[in-house]
Amino acid sequence: MNDSQHEHADGITEAHKPVPSYFYVLFFGLIIWAVIFMAYFLLSGWSSDAEFQEKMAAHTGEPVQATAEPAASAPAAEPAGSAPGGQALYSANCAGCHGADATGGFGTDLTAATYQYGKTPDDIKESIANGRGGSMPGFSGQLSPAEIDQLVDYLLKL
Ligand code: HEC
Repeated sequence: MNDSQHEHADGITEAHKPVPSYFYVLFFGLIIWAVIFMAYFLLSGWSSDAEFQEKMAAHTGEPVQATAEPAASAPAAEPAGSAPGGQALYSANCAGCHGADATGGFGTDLTAATYQYGKTPDDIKESIANGRGGSMPGFSGQLSPAEIDQLVDYLLKL
C-alpha cells in the first residue's frame, strides 16, 4: 500500500488521486459567479424582460409599458382628414416643386398668408385639381377628390 491507495476492511482498495485544481476553480468560480449574479439581479433592478420591453419601445417608438400591464391596445385610428395623410401626399407629389417645407422652390411659397389664386378651400382645390398658369400641373387625374381635400387641409394648417 502506498500514499495514493487506501485499503478498507472489506478489502476494497480506493485510489486517491489528487483532485485536479481546475475542478476547484470551476466549482468555486461558479458559486462566486452565482452569488454575484443573484446580488446584481436582485439589487440592480435589471431584468431581461424590462430590457426587452425597452428595446421594443425604442424600436417601435411607443412609450415604455410597465411590464406587469397587459399588452397595449392597438393605437387609435387617425382622425379623418388629419394632417399626417396630407403631409404624406404633399411629400410624394408636391415637395419636389414647392419644397419639403413648402416655402417654395420652382413652385410658389405655400406657407404664405395669401395665395396668388386665392386661399379659400375652393381656390386651393381648383389650383391642385386643374393646375395654374401652365407651370402648376393639375392633379385631378392622379389624386382622388378626398386626397385633394386632405392636401387642402394640410396647406391651410401650414
Ligand atoms: C411641376 C412643379 C409643381 C408641382 C409638382 C406642384 N406644383 Fe404647385 N405650383 C407650381 C408652380 C410653378 C406654381 C405657380 C403657378 C403660377 O404662379 O402661375 C404652383 C402653384 C400652386 C398653388 C397656387 C398658389 C397660389 O399662390 O395661388 C397651389 C395651391 C399649389 N401649387 C399646390 C400644389 C400642391 C398641393 C401640389 C401637390 C399635389 C403641387 N402644387 C405640385 C409648381 C408645382
